Amino acid sequence: MLTIRDLTIHVGNNQIVGIDELDIERGARLGLVGESGSGKTMTAMSLVGLQHRDCRVTGSVQFDGRELIGCGEKDLARIRGSDVGMIFQDPLRALNPTMRVGRQIGEAIRLHARTSRAQLRARVHDLMTQVRLPDPDRLARCYPHQLSGGQQQRVLIAMAIACDPKLLIADEPTTALDVTVQKEILDLLVRLSSEKQMAMLFVSHDLGVVRAVSEQVAVLYSGRLVEVGPSDAVIGDPRHRYTEALVAANPGLISSDETDVLIGQPLPTITGSVPAPGAAPSGCAFRNRCAYATDACEAVPPMKNVDSERRFTCWNPSVDVKAGSHGTR
Ligand SMILES: Nc1ncnc2c1ncn2[C@@H]1O[C@H](COP(=O)(O)OP(=O)(O)O)[C@@H](O)[C@H]1O
Ligand SMILES: [Mg+2]
Repeated sequence: MLTIRDLTIHVGNNQIVGIDELDIERGARLGLVGESGSGKTMTAMSLVGLQHRDCRVTGSVQFDGRELIGCGEKDLARIRGSDVGMIFQDPLRALNPTMRVGRQIGEAIRLHARTSRAQLRARVHDLMTQVRLPDPDRLARCYPHQLSGGQQQRVLIAMAIACDPKLLIADEPTTALDVTVQKEILDLLVRLSSEKQMAMLFVSHDLGVVRAVSEQVAVLYSGRLVEVGPSDAVIGDPRHRYTEALVAANPGLISSDETDVLIGQPLPTITGSVPAPGAAPSGCAFRNRCAYATDACEAVPPMKNVDSERRFTCWNPSVDVKAGSHGTR
């Protein structure tokens, strides 16, 4: 349904993103994960023409057979909010502070569909119920600042799904929320996506959150995909050394026996940070932070398939202990 090919994003002479190939099937959920600065937001925004105007985007993004790159702003605006819904990290900033939330949800509906006042009110009530906002009639009359962060994000989700989109792009939608609220919002997104057969591009720096939401994961480093595959397989048995480091930095992902041992231990982090655009080393962009780098890594590692669903690009991958081999072909 969403087919990305040779997508590049440049700012000036610096390439920020270069994604050869990435697909999302109808109704499927894909998590795009990587540390801050890896290019996740730029990628998500460019899919629907929302990149900063300094960015130059090339390549192909097909949505339901329609090419979006180079598509006019008028067409893109129609696609956003009808076929593609979006939610972002900071719900309060995305809401209009001076408009009651019921009215804002109503506007999201009216943007793409004609309805009578009575129909509109019923639909707002229905959407608020779908996103499990308590006491919709009362809450609809509140202003955004009168709601909790979790409730604000639910309002934004209601707006994003108002026109039954086929794809929801969610960029770090729970990063600003408390852990318990975060879990509720993730559950809500998964439920809505399943019930409505709504595909989702779920962007997060947190592998644990990605695994909770999406069957598939794509790991982005310095604007490049380094590993793609089913979330459980990639997290349980990472091949790329960057994925391996991300998994190690997230103790919640390690099985419960080991978690006991980990309690009280400092969280391992990956030394250094994602290189600034234009400052990535040649070859494998991760090599200056990688404990396993060899001379081979000065050349760009080719994409290797583990099986029909999994691929990665690393010269010195983690060995699949169970299989006793690198498992590449
Ligand atoms: N408008 C911009 N102009 C130039 N560089 C930018 C702009 N926005 C982001 N960047 C750079 O692009 C890279 C990717 O940013 P971003 O997509 O926001 O990463 P992420 O969402 O993964 O944290 C970063 O190095 C960031 O500094
Ligand atoms: Mg971001």
